[in-house]
Amino acid sequence: MDWAEPQMPVLLRIRARAAKQRPLKGVRVACCLHVTTETAHLMLTLRAAGADVALCASNPLSTQDDIAATLVKDHGLAVFAVRGENRATYYEHIKAVLARRAHITMDDGADLVSTVHKQPGRFGGSVIGGTEETTTGVIRLQSLDAQGKLRYPVIAVNEASTKHLFDNRYGTGQSTIDGILRATNRLLAGSVFVVAGYGWCGKGLAQRARGMGAQVIVTEVDPIKGLEAVMDGFQVMPLGAAVRRADILVTVTGCAQVLSTRHFRGMKDGVIIANAGHFDVELDLGALKRLSRRVRVLRSGIQQYALRSGRTVNVLGEGRLVNLACAEGHPPGVMDMSFANQALACEYLAKRGRRLEPHVYPVPAEMDREIARLKLASLGIGIDRLTPFQKRYLSSWELGT
Ligand code: ADE
Repeated sequence: MDWAEPQMPVLLRIRARAAKQRPLKGVRVACCLHVTTETAHLMLTLRAAGADVALCASNPLSTQDDIAATLVKDHGLAVFAVRGENRATYYEHIKAVLARRAHITMDDGADLVSTVHKQPGRFGGSVIGGTEETTTGVIRLQSLDAQGKLRYPVIAVNEASTKHLFDNRYGTGQSTIDGILRATNRLLAGSVFVVAGYGWCGKGLAQRARGMGAQVIVTEVDPIKGLEAVMDGFQVMPLGAAVRRADILVTVTGCAQVLSTRHFRGMKDGVIIANAGHFDVELDLGALKRLSRRVRVLRSGIQQYALRSGRTVNVLGEGRLVNLACAEGHPPGVMDMSFANQALACEYLAKRGRRLEPHVYPVPAEMDREIARLKLASLGIGIDRLTPFQKRYLSSWELGT
């Protein structure tokens, strides 16, 4: 935590101001996030702002146990998380956090919101609002909202520019490569690296894999994103064709059963497959197991499936987020902005949540821009200002050539 702290100057600034103003005094915040070093700094920031914080994991394999331990032992926080917890324990922990009668839910993947909505009588009474960290969670919330079932307002932190343009792109880009390298120690130069999905996360990953010298193939279902990938200079082809060429294949789609039986059958011997999408649903490991005669842990983070055809398929991190299962997730320098958004969104909800209708809301634009300004300032980088004439020009329709 001491090593990461100087990389999170925006969050630290918010913490210093909040420690004086105490905008979250008496507010109970239930957090379901990856329990990492960076999250620990967010928890300390919320606490400095006066919040009563409880934390559980948003993925069974992403918890850093030493961090969970220090938050409990040295900082007196309520943390319910242990790396490798099973599904039952994962949900027990979610319920333990919600049982503390939260005012605000802070999610990464919408498991708190979804649990509250399944048992509103038990968990919903005290909640005034929520925040959501990730694309998959925002999609779940939008579905609740579209059906008219969302019970409280939620701020979609993921939609802030200072979140997805940096965390999803550069964070996932770097940390996914980091996870693959820590697990496999493979040479990427010259390898055929397939990225399934060209959202912000896929874009970042494809860019970084190319930077390491891999031959990158992108697969997509969206014609616009597919075209973007073509014009960004990547090879684009259907997944069925790409799997035959892949040495390493990563799913980053947010969808389910992206790799299934027909894909596994066409893979090269010794292929490495991994997932960097939020849930462990992108690789159909049940189908892979049915094609296999043996599964063994070859080294930490690598399960090798020996297919009856004689080929092997190597799965990283049990098909869970490879950047968190096999590495440490995104570096603090990028989580700084994501978690600055979370902290400020939480303050915003504490102040205005009771007056908002139950819908999904963006982070206020001025908050987003302020975070970018602070980050640039912390990097010692200045930018230009518009002159009064330029401001007038940009807001007029009369002036042409
Ligand atoms: N999501 C991706 N990387 C993360 C990190 N380091 N901490 C918390 N959430 C994350």
